[in-house]
Amino acid sequence: PNSDVLLDGDHFVDGILYPDAVLREEEYKKVLDFPLQSDDTFVTSYPKSGTVWTISQVKLIKEKVQELSGSISGDTVPLSKMHLADSVSWLEEDGKEFGMALPYPRTLTCHMPYHMLPGGEPHKSPAKYIYVMRNPKDVSISFHHYFYVLVERKHEIKFDDYFEMFVNGNPLYGSWFDHVLQWWDHRDASNILIVRFEEMKKDLHKSIRTISQFMGHNLDEPTINAIAEECTFDRMKANPLLNLDTSRYAKKYNKDRTFMRKGVVGDWKNHLSPEQTAQFDAIYHKKMDGSGLDFGI
Ligand code: A3P
Repeated sequence: PNSDVLLDGDHFVDGILYPDAVLREEEYKKVLDFPLQSDDTFVTSYPKSGTVWTISQVKLIKEKVQELSGSISGDTVPLSKMHLADSVSWLEEDGKEFGMALPYPRTLTCHMPYHMLPGGEPHKSPAKYIYVMRNPKDVSISFHHYFYVLVERKHEIKFDDYFEMFVNGNPLYGSWFDHVLQWWDHRDASNILIVRFEEMKKDLHKSIRTISQFMGHNLDEPTINAIAEECTFDRMKANPLLNLDTSRYAKKYNKDRTFMRKGVVGDWKNHLSPEQTAQFDAIYHKKMDGSGLDFGI
């Protein structure tokens, strides 16, 4: 491990490096047999790929469906009025009980790689999985920034050190390449949908339609438009119910750094040196060529 990036408490669970505050071996063992059912929606990803953005779309789709079917009773709090962290379970950090106590239909999330997912292998599970992908160069920039969002990691981490670990080493949350390729291998499973940050950015309306159809709902255009309006970067950044620094996890987050950072495609061009770009491209092609997965790299 790269000691300039890692903390003493960082440790391996099932071969993947985790911060102590995120996942411990004994918690992982407990959450492994999480009982899943067919109306559970899992949003999974490598960190910093657009997870919260996708969860927001899923939450609003569910809320609209409940509204349209008249199944919201007077004492139900609509999902959009609940904090993101209270209406969704991050299975690594929350453990088993919190997820079990969520109201149905549940939205679950985690960043664990395919082979570690609670509830068993996704393509054999009754739940639905939405896997979010993003250009790895942008993931590395967003992830480096994230170190400064987390209180426990507020020490100076040079981007160059993090980048080296991301590309060549054994980074926190595991290798981006392995993570993405494992899911990509199961892209044809009927209960797995792969979505991309760049496509959501290009056409959010289309993404919401695709996600809602995957979840079994045909929403009309005005409803999709209303969801898309709520899910723009500016609207989400301004919504305290979607920002982690206002959540029950608030103690973990620095107030002066925002989780909703830039929300753009291609920010890596402002950060990676020509040498880093060449290094990344070479490794990318070595690992990804032949997979059929293309990030325009
Ligand atoms: P940046 O750091 O590049 O801005 P995750 O939820 O997986 O941790 O991903 C976080 C990234 O998604 C951050 O990227 C964040 O700004 C971006 N993001 C969140 N909501 C977004 C939205 N509505 N539009 C565009 N980007 C969004």
